[in-house]
Amino acid sequence: MILITTPGKVGLEAARLLAQQGKDVRVLARDPHRAAVLEQEAVQVVEGDLDAPSTIDAAMRDVKAVVLVSPAVPAQELNVIAAARAGVTHLVKVTSKASADSPIARQRGQAQIEAGLIASGLSHTLLRSNFYMQNLLMLAPAIARTGRFGSSAGAGKVGFIDARDVAAVAAEVISRPEPHLDRTYLLTGPELLSYADVAAILATVLGRDVSFEERTRQEDKQAMVSAGVPEATAAMNAHAVSLIAEGEAAWLSGDVPTVLRRRARTFREFAADHVSVFS
Ligand SMILES: NC(=O)c1ccc[n+]([C@@H]2O[C@H](COP(=O)([O-])OP(=O)(O)OC[C@H]3O[C@@H](n4cnc5c(N)ncnc54)[C@H](OP(=O)(O)O)[C@@H]3O)[C@@H](O)[C@H]2O)c1
Repeated sequence: MILITTPGKVGLEAARLLAQQGKDVRVLARDPHRAAVLEQEAVQVVEGDLDAPSTIDAAMRDVKAVVLVSPAVPAQELNVIAAARAGVTHLVKVTSKASADSPIARQRGQAQIEAGLIASGLSHTLLRSNFYMQNLLMLAPAIARTGRFGSSAGAGKVGFIDARDVAAVAAEVISRPEPHLDRTYLLTGPELLSYADVAAILATVLGRDVSFEERTRQEDKQAMVSAGVPEATAAMNAHAVSLIAEGEAAWLSGDVPTVLRRRARTFREFAADHVSVFS
């Protein structure tokens, strides 16, 4: 049995891919309704909370492999790692940039979790991803309404990756872990794009004007709060986006094709798959 710790952007798609390969998959969900799209798939959905170790222990029954993908809160992910030590033979952790002295709390959290994972002695693989294309879906209502969107990323470039490709790599590695033991993969799409490049691609795919305007970090944070993101998370995410302007996300890797033996999806393909959301 493979346990996927949440039904988020990566967890849902990884569960679907694994179920389609005939694997036994279980997803832990704080709110099982969030996993309703899996109803058509042979996936077990169990209610649980990563803050409640007893629910993690219950979800871990008969589990031999874990995909650890959650909001990188150290206590929560360390709970999963502790529960996995009993019988799990491999764990795939979805992560981002990790640094103990980063100004971004999430990156400090990732460093703490990765250190705990290594100290646990569990066989593992780290999937260190660049920004997900799916983050841009937050901007979709503004783009649909006004044809404009803003960000404090400035002219900074990003090696955006489609979260569906992160899920595909997680599914491949957890299914056949042997070549991937104790390795770290850097996951990006195939190209570096600025937000102005994103606007130009959206304009082509949608067949109408889309323009990008520079915003301040404070304006970014306010826009996220208005979209329902909690204040502290909005502040952290706006800070992370502002660092794009300084080159933080301007990196590419060939690890997706190496693991999947196919190329990573482009932003143009992502946009074409989400036309109805941006329109
Ligand atoms: N987004 C990116 O661009 C990006 C890039 C690189 C790496 N990553 C990494 O990917 C990981 C996941 O991020 P994401 O953006 O993909 O997340 P996401 O899609 O927002 O998914 C997060 C999931 O965690 C669940 N969750 C939150 N608190 C929980 C709790 N206490 N117990 C059980 N489930 C809980 C959420 O459930 P609810 O629906 O109930 O809230 C949701 O299903 C993080 O480690 C992040 O650093 C993200």
